[in-house]
Amino acid sequence: MTQEPLLRAQRLYKGYGHIVAVQDLSLDLHPGEILGLLGPNGAGKSTTIAMLSGLLTPDRGSITLNGKPFGPHTLDLKARIGLVPQDLALYPDLTARENLRFWARIYGLSGRGGERRIAEVLDLVGLTPYADRLVRTYSGGMKRRLNLAAGILHQPAVLFLDEPTVGVDPQSRHAIFELVRALAESGTAVLYTTHYMEEAQTLCHRVAIMDHGRIIAEGAPEALIRQIGQGMIHLEVPEPDRDALARYARALEGVHRVVQRERALLVQTADPHRTLLQLLQAAGQRRWRIHALRLFEPNLEAVFLALTGKTLRDG
Ligand SMILES: Nc1ncnc2c1ncn2[C@@H]1O[C@H](COP(=O)(O)OP(=O)(O)O)[C@@H](O)[C@H]1O
Ligand SMILES: [Mg+2]
Repeated sequence: MTQEPLLRAQRLYKGYGHIVAVQDLSLDLHPGEILGLLGPNGAGKSTTIAMLSGLLTPDRGSITLNGKPFGPHTLDLKARIGLVPQDLALYPDLTARENLRFWARIYGLSGRGGERRIAEVLDLVGLTPYADRLVRTYSGGMKRRLNLAAGILHQPAVLFLDEPTVGVDPQSRHAIFELVRALAESGTAVLYTTHYMEEAQTLCHRVAIMDHGRIIAEGAPEALIRQIGQGMIHLEVPEPDRDALARYARALEGVHRVVQRERALLVQTADPHRTLLQLLQAAGQRRWRIHALRLFEPNLEAVFLALTGKTLRDG
């Protein structure tokens, strides 16, 4: 994208005592773009969002919004930024509409204009029929959608969504996806964190993969998969068979890389199904012992595995 970034973070650091939550993190976010922050639990996604939305001051580094330095005291910051936090911020003993009135007041939206906007966002998240029910009676997915409605009430230019689909039903998930796409199409810049690689792959234009507080790879999902993901075979093989199997795998056509990690062997290949058959055949003939085996299709999970040696779920 050639456009100036709406939001730019440069070399952000944040530590808690001796824990480094985020280190050397730089990113650009453009209008109309959905940028995914993909990483396991503890990777530093929420800390990053907290800094980018002005809730937390970085220990080091800079953030600019529209080219201007930015911090918790930036004027009208709240007006331009929408935050949908990982933890729900809702009053269970109020209705959805009453909850939104509370947020509308915070954003300075009152009177008839406020009521109109509340009706609009309720409609956008598909909650109009349930608007006057107590939030206590809502399902997890409905609460998530209401949380999202609160975050977009004031039509922010930048929207931060922190794992908005955790624990939601497929229908709510779909509604959230559709809304995020529509918001981006209308020009909103969206930063979306998730530990689900399928979500990042289908929803995001660009993905930054995080691990241990750092961005370890960044790009369009298809480009990342083509460059680093390919297919991956994860084999647990005891020594000395592991060495022999590694040597055999390296010589196979289509195999790009073979990495030894602890007890496992990672084989990166253009054609995982064919390579797997070849490896199994050889192991059968030579009596190599394979204790466990997993096949990864070319996807972002394979990218993460290739970069870190672990799966997103392993954390
Ligand atoms: N308020 C805090 N105090 C101490 N440690 C924290 C705090 N918030 C986050 N951390 C630590 O910082 C790291 C990154 O956390 P977080 O940003 O929540 O990751 P993610 O959102 O990717 O799961 C983790 O090791 C976490 O335990
Ligand atoms: Mg988090």
